[in-house]
Amino acid sequence: MSVAEIFDSMEYGPATEGDAQALAWIDRYGGRLWHFIDGEWCKPAKDGWIDSINPATGETLAAIAVGTQKDVDRAVAAAREAQPAWAGLGGHGRARYLYSLARLVQKHGRLLSVLESMDNGKPIRETRDIDVPLVARHFYHHAGWAQLCDSEFPDHEPLGVVGQVIPWNFPLLMLAWKVAPALAAGNTVVLKPAEFTSLSALLFCDLCRQAGLPNGVVNIVTGEGPTGELLVNHPEIDKIAFTGSTEVGRLIRAATAGSGKKLTLELGGKSPFIVFDDADLDSAVEGVVDAIWFNQGQVCCAGSRLLVQEGVADRMIAKLKARMETLRVGDPLDKSIDIGAIVAPVQLKRIEELVQQGVDEGASLWQPSWACPKDGLFYPPSLFTDVAPAATIASVEIFGPVLVAMTFRTPGEAVALANNTRYGLAASVWSENINLALDMAPKLKAGVVWVNSTNLFDAACGFGGYRESGFGREGGKEGMFAYLKPAWEKDLAEYGPAPPLPTPMPEQRDGLPPLDRTAKMYIGGAQKRPDGNYNRPVLAPDGEIVGEVGEGNRKDIRDAVEAARKAAGWSRSAAHVRAQILYYIAENLDARADEFRDRIRAMTGVGRAKAGGEVVATISRLFAYAAWADKFDGAVHSPPLRDVTLAMNEPIGVIGLVCPDEPALLGFASMVAPAIAMGNTTVVVPSERHPLSATDLYQVFDTSDLPGGVVNIVTGEKDALAKVLAEHDDVDALWYDGPKSGSAMVEAASIGNLKRTWVNDGKKRNWLDDRQAQGQEFLRQATQVKNIWVPYGE
Ligand code: NAI
Repeated sequence: MSVAEIFDSMEYGPATEGDAQALAWIDRYGGRLWHFIDGEWCKPAKDGWIDSINPATGETLAAIAVGTQKDVDRAVAAAREAQPAWAGLGGHGRARYLYSLARLVQKHGRLLSVLESMDNGKPIRETRDIDVPLVARHFYHHAGWAQLCDSEFPDHEPLGVVGQVIPWNFPLLMLAWKVAPALAAGNTVVLKPAEFTSLSALLFCDLCRQAGLPNGVVNIVTGEGPTGELLVNHPEIDKIAFTGSTEVGRLIRAATAGSGKKLTLELGGKSPFIVFDDADLDSAVEGVVDAIWFNQGQVCCAGSRLLVQEGVADRMIAKLKARMETLRVGDPLDKSIDIGAIVAPVQLKRIEELVQQGVDEGASLWQPSWACPKDGLFYPPSLFTDVAPAATIASVEIFGPVLVAMTFRTPGEAVALANNTRYGLAASVWSENINLALDMAPKLKAGVVWVNSTNLFDAACGFGGYRESGFGREGGKEGMFAYLKPAWEKDLAEYGPAPPLPTPMPEQRDGLPPLDRTAKMYIGGAQKRPDGNYNRPVLAPDGEIVGEVGEGNRKDIRDAVEAARKAAGWSRSAAHVRAQILYYIAENLDARADEFRDRIRAMTGVGRAKAGGEVVATISRLFAYAAWADKFDGAVHSPPLRDVTLAMNEPIGVIGLVCPDEPALLGFASMVAPAIAMGNTTVVVPSERHPLSATDLYQVFDTSDLPGGVVNIVTGEKDALAKVLAEHDDVDALWYDGPKSGSAMVEAASIGNLKRTWVNDGKKRNWLDDRQAQGQEFLRQATQVKNIWVPYGE
């Protein structure tokens, strides 16, 4: 073809990246890759292998080992042994290694990119320009956190050995997201890459050796789901960090319940991509390309639901179809390819089946006129219109290059449609009206919101979801907290068995008949009789009946959750207003301090000074959270592009609070105050034994301008009520303080909506000690960080 002809046709020639070096690296290991344990390549304990296939060609690249119990045991033991010295190295020592790893990732960037594209099928343009640079950035950023660990996370220590299980869609990047913060904080890791894409993780092991990383700090065991399961169930693991499907996330939540292992889950999504009628439609079309055709749509935060304002919908769809005609699907190693291969036959089949289901359910499918390459796992970019909000393709994560388009009329309708999902990972808003975009961002139930942009990531900006997209954040300061624990935690005593209840004394019947003293429930700001119409006595240590409270049941919890949900306006009230109300509660409690002191004495039998001290401590705690209400600010991050990222601390929603038995008043206030200070509404199960200091608070709340429904109180049997709260799908988070068995039950029962749980694992916190029972740990548990990306410039 002559130059003139090329100018005429504007055809792309092939621009293929060479694969020789990547193949040579595989050859160096004879095409069989072992586990990496204790700094060495480690022959698998049993002869089991999986072929790692190039999805674009069908060729077998290498065989990777299938990890068995013995392999996992060895890896965990190596990590355990290495951990104290790694933590003992100090922040600067660890920073030097992380910095070395960052440099080595850059130095071997080309090899990493090529190998990743061959193993996963993603275009080299993406691995070279996005995945690998972000990997290096992650190690640089976390070299920084390692260096600053002592000063920025005082009184915190590493968790120990972390088990990490990652998916196949961003193999090396997910490894970096997991390994870098864990190492920076002083943990050691055992990581299992996904079975389809383990090669770049194994190449990373070579880099660890080149960096001279101490043996056992990073261990990689390859294998399929069952190997991951062995890791998850291993008793010597202190935390599991998982990224993958919501189904497996649920299994892992169930498997780790009650084990004391910390857990973070980064799961699926069905993220909305919202285009308003004043958006720059050409930019929005390019945005869609990045949102859903980046990495073949195999992205947890892919903008897979296009919501377009009605007036511009036809124009937008027409422009989109024109753009789709120009997309190129093909050899991932070709630099001029937009869309590569689907990772594995099973994933391609899943996409094909879901697309067929979309057609069967009546939606209109549109695909470009050109045909995909036939050899290899390719799927064309696809667009569905005429989609009903309840259609399967509108709610299920397809994890492929398939976009589902719907329309809306008003911003309110856009919010309703956008939030009409079980997930809550990301959202993208397109409008030239920045006020509108920033008004939308807090209303979208998603951990990340991109304004006039999409799929932007940076190590400094936390990433993670709400609801069934999981819990926990990766990146940023919040991501570091996921790998640390308060240093005092290890010294806490265990909850002993509860002392037996005293035998109730017969009631004194001389003189006038007593007035009924049954405290009711407190729901929606009103006192409510218990649904079951049963009461329980509240006994003094000598058995004297000091009062009665209602025996709450499932229906009472349901009513309380409904009231808490209705009071959601509280989250939009100004922090100053919430502070004022907390001060007011403290003021009104102070006015009745003697009455509360006497009540505590009557229920618990403690002396006057101790009971009075608890009331004073409670007032001080309320003051503390009134003070924090307008000071627990977010941050403004500056990632390396022309952008500000607003990291906002948002309330979680409805939080269930299951309070310690003792000290009843202070324990209650220590949980309720931080939760409501941050804008959550609550359903509280107060002390089972000494509930009257909570029920006495109704009048204090009523006289303190606390809106009805912000604090709802259901008395009764603690663990029975905690279970109902854990199983309730409209409760967003649950805090529990009690015996170990209760923590296990709460974690196991919360798998339905994958609510965020915070349990004490049977450890007795000292509620009188401000260091343990007050401050930022509580505020972090009461909030979730939403990162709003706002690019700027013309
Ligand atoms: P998956 O969740 O099964 O696999 C992710 C990782 O978990 C892999 O390393 C796998 O070996 C491991 N694993 C599987 N079962 C396990 C178990 N019981 N215990 C411990 N580890 C286990 O995801 P899969 O099957 O590869 O993809 C299925 C669907 O999941 C996709 O179609 C997509 O919808 C979703 N997905 C979401 C991802 C995300 O980033 N949110 C990533 C990958 C998949």
